[in-house]
Amino acid sequence: MEKYILWNGDIIDSKEKDGLISFDDRGYQFGDGVYEVIRIYKGALHLLDLHLDRLFRSMKELNITPPISREQFIDELGKLIGHNQFDQDGNLYVQVTRGLQPRAHIYNPGSKAVYYAKIDHFQKPVEILQNGVSVTVQEDIRWLRCDIKSLNLLPNIMAMTNAYHNGFYEPLFVRDGIVRECGASNFFLVKDGKVITHPANHFILNGITRLHVLRLAKELNLPVEEREIDRNELYTADECFLTATPLEVVPITHIDEHKVNGGEVGRITRKLQKRYEQSISNDLYTF
Ligand SMILES: Cc1ncc(COP(=O)(O)O)c(C=O)c1O
Repeated sequence: MEKYILWNGDIIDSKEKDGLISFDDRGYQFGDGVYEVIRIYKGALHLLDLHLDRLFRSMKELNITPPISREQFIDELGKLIGHNQFDQDGNLYVQVTRGLQPRAHIYNPGSKAVYYAKIDHFQKPVEILQNGVSVTVQEDIRWLRCDIKSLNLLPNIMAMTNAYHNGFYEPLFVRDGIVRECGASNFFLVKDGKVITHPANHFILNGITRLHVLRLAKELNLPVEEREIDRNELYTADECFLTATPLEVVPITHIDEHKVNGGEVGRITRKLQKRYEQSISNDLYTF
């Protein structure tokens, strides 16, 4: 983690962070809060507007009063980057909790939200971008508001850990026989030249990378379909890949013991990776 963090409007040394969090914080008690992860390329924020849109939407859906305005967020995130003199590649993590209240399920809408942000140095995961990953199908036991980027990630944590210990990169969630998304990323399938992904509804998080890749696919004149994918389609797919902010576009070469495209990275996946890379500089917010 970089030296300075943003804590409720102040830039402080991260060494001072211990003891800042109250045990009355509803984020600590219940996971009652929301977050964002924003990619940083050479000190500039990628797709910042889309991330702020989703952060404010998540707060709205949970009836959390934003602690500061959108413009103040931009200003304070800029100060965080500036104080750290951060000009490299990384991830910016922003979290907002409902704030401090004596522990009770019923919340008081008046509490002042608590927020913080930090920067972690992070480099493009070249090995998996090049060679792809394996995923394992797991039953989706999450709640039915997966569209909210909530701190409360217990089913994801359980499934991700389980997948990891079984040698897979991520779980691939299936609910009612429909492929939804991965543990911390969105899922795409390519069939007969079409790029297919789950519609943006309450069954998935509408990933910012998902949105961006759909835009890039359209720019490349690739046919795009946002529709439910039956579990059986996994085994006849031409290509599969996942998308997430830190990872960009990662090929999926294996689904459990099944080899996708004979275990080779597909042509359209490569095309989208290339376009993603070329387009980064168009969507950067530099302070
Ligand atoms: C469940 C889930 N789906 C999808 C994503 C990808 O979202 P984004 O592209 O905004 O990083 C994430 C990212 O953390 C996630 O946790």
